Amino acid sequence: MNTKSDTLFSAPVKSTPFQFDKSVAEVFPDMIKRSVPGYDIIIKQIEKLAGQFVKNNTNCFDLGCSLGAASLAMSKGIHQDDCKIIAVDNSEAMLGRCQQHINAFKHSTPVELHLADILDMPVENAAMVVLNFTLQFIQNEKRSALLSRIYEGMNPGGVLLLSEKIIFKNPTINRLLTNLHHDFKKENGYSDLEISQKRNALENVLTPETLDNHLTRLNRVGFSTATCWLQQFNFISIIAIK
Ligand SMILES: C[S@@+](CC[C@H](N)C(=O)[O-])C[C@H]1O[C@@H](n2cnc3c(N)ncnc32)[C@H](O)[C@@H]1O
Repeated sequence: MNTKSDTLFSAPVKSTPFQFDKSVAEVFPDMIKRSVPGYDIIIKQIEKLAGQFVKNNTNCFDLGCSLGAASLAMSKGIHQDDCKIIAVDNSEAMLGRCQQHINAFKHSTPVELHLADILDMPVENAAMVVLNFTLQFIQNEKRSALLSRIYEGMNPGGVLLLSEKIIFKNPTINRLLTNLHHDFKKENGYSDLEISQKRNALENVLTPETLDNHLTRLNRVGFSTATCWLQQFNFISIIAIK
């Protein structure tokens, strides 16, 4: 797959809310690698977890799948029979390109794509669910109900992988880690203008919470254990087990 470099915010642009549209879909692999510290490590870990947690005759869900990186990782990691990966996104542009990515690889486990809102998507017989940087785009007041529904649709012993951008209660730490993330982006070739314009576009679209909020909510909906296994600056990944 040929993918373009992300230059979407390199020239001055009118500030409009960030959308996962055609222009974002075209540059997404470059954008996410240069913007999200730890992304490649998480994708590799999803493959490993799929190998460990997925049982015969079960489903895996990739909720907010974008171009299908997590689905492809699960498909690579699963060595069991009669499993299915269900990849869901509500952006037509993202899902169109996702189909091309999926078609470009051979799979022993089929990947089924759904153009749908994850708030409406049934989850059942799930051995593994991935929410890789998606929950942060869901309205805050709908997050608990979504996680409860996911929990109900999971099999005992199943795993949820939840990755998010987070905020910190302590303002000094919040500023420090935000700045370290901006330095990471600068080292990856983004200018100050690109960083500030993207930040403005994401304001009120991506709503980060504290790590504590995430862990408390996961425990409240019923997960027997939830722990942060990776943190890079203000980006974290959690593993929760039913
Ligand atoms: C940061 S991307 C996720 C990256 C992806 N999971 C990966 O590992 O490469 C967020 C994705 O969630 C999708 N999304 C946001 N809200 C959604 C919703 N309510 N229902 C379905 N998809 C949603 C967006 O279209 C976008 O593709």
